[in-house]
Amino acid sequence: MTAPRPKAGAAGFDQLFSSKAEGGLRVKTGIVELDEMLRGGFMPGDSVMVAGSAGSGKTTLGLQYLFNGVKLGEPGIYVTFEELPDQIYRDANNFGWDLRKMEEEGKFRVICTSPSLMLESGDGSLLEDVFREVQPQRLVIDSLSHLEMFVKKDDMRMEAYRMISYLKTRGISSILLWESPQISGGSFSVTDVGLSFLVDCIVALKPVEIESSMRKALVILKMRGSDHDKRLREFEITPAGIKIQSAFTNYEGIISGSPRKVASEKFMELFRGASEKRK
Ligand SMILES: Nc1ncnc2c1ncn2[C@@H]1O[C@H](COP(=O)(O)OP(=O)(O)OP(=O)(O)O)[C@@H](O)[C@H]1O
Ligand SMILES: [Mg+2]
Repeated sequence: MTAPRPKAGAAGFDQLFSSKAEGGLRVKTGIVELDEMLRGGFMPGDSVMVAGSAGSGKTTLGLQYLFNGVKLGEPGIYVTFEELPDQIYRDANNFGWDLRKMEEEGKFRVICTSPSLMLESGDGSLLEDVFREVQPQRLVIDSLSHLEMFVKKDDMRMEAYRMISYLKTRGISSILLWESPQISGGSFSVTDVGLSFLVDCIVALKPVEIESSMRKALVILKMRGSDHDKRLREFEITPAGIKIQSAFTNYEGIISGSPRKVASEKFMELFRGASEKRK
């Protein structure tokens, strides 16, 4: 007799983190459905860009990735240019993530710095001491967009490249958050400074207005060297963090910002309407 398969999203914490074999050597986000979309998780050592508009859930996703990483035995560092430490600890606590405890255990560190300091250190020496102490396998930068204010547009790609290379040579799997006002079309032009092809994977978060309500969509725009879910999936920010739901199968044009029901769905609606009338 085989054990019943746990429903997606209903897996217990231990189950979630013990199935190393399933995803092979992947960096699990710990968000079950996202890991499924990524065919097990991100590729080790990859730089991932999480792009989305204000309030779309970038910071939440970044912190959840780090928190779950520590649970998996993978220490992490959160570099922020925008939020004050107290606010980060407080917001994370509201999701049930005790960052201070992880810091006390030496498995995690919040670094609040300014982009100019980060850039001055250039080669990343600002981070060296912390790296020695924490031995991170994961790192989140919140956000890369803030660097843009401190460097000329032409230099942005070089600075981002330096940072990405620095993390890669240390084998750190990174998530770079990027605030993008709009993500459009099938092209990968998530940023207008051409950062898209410096990163290995792009996850886009996008608010969508459907029938007068605001919903959230997540899509993996690219993932070098791996298959992945190509569909646009709905997600929610819940008191336990990000939860991914089903695909927006009945709509098209969501990425371009004008969702329409697909023809088959319209037909079904008309059909349902007609049969209701007949009753
Ligand atoms: N404890 C919580 N429970 C449920 N939802 C929450 C909680 N905390 C925040 N949220 C939701 O998450 C949203 C903000 O998410 P987050 O800060 O991750 O977005 P962001 O993309 O980083 O935003 P910004 O561009 O401002 O940095 C809030 O607007 C709220 O809807
Ligand atoms: Mg944020």
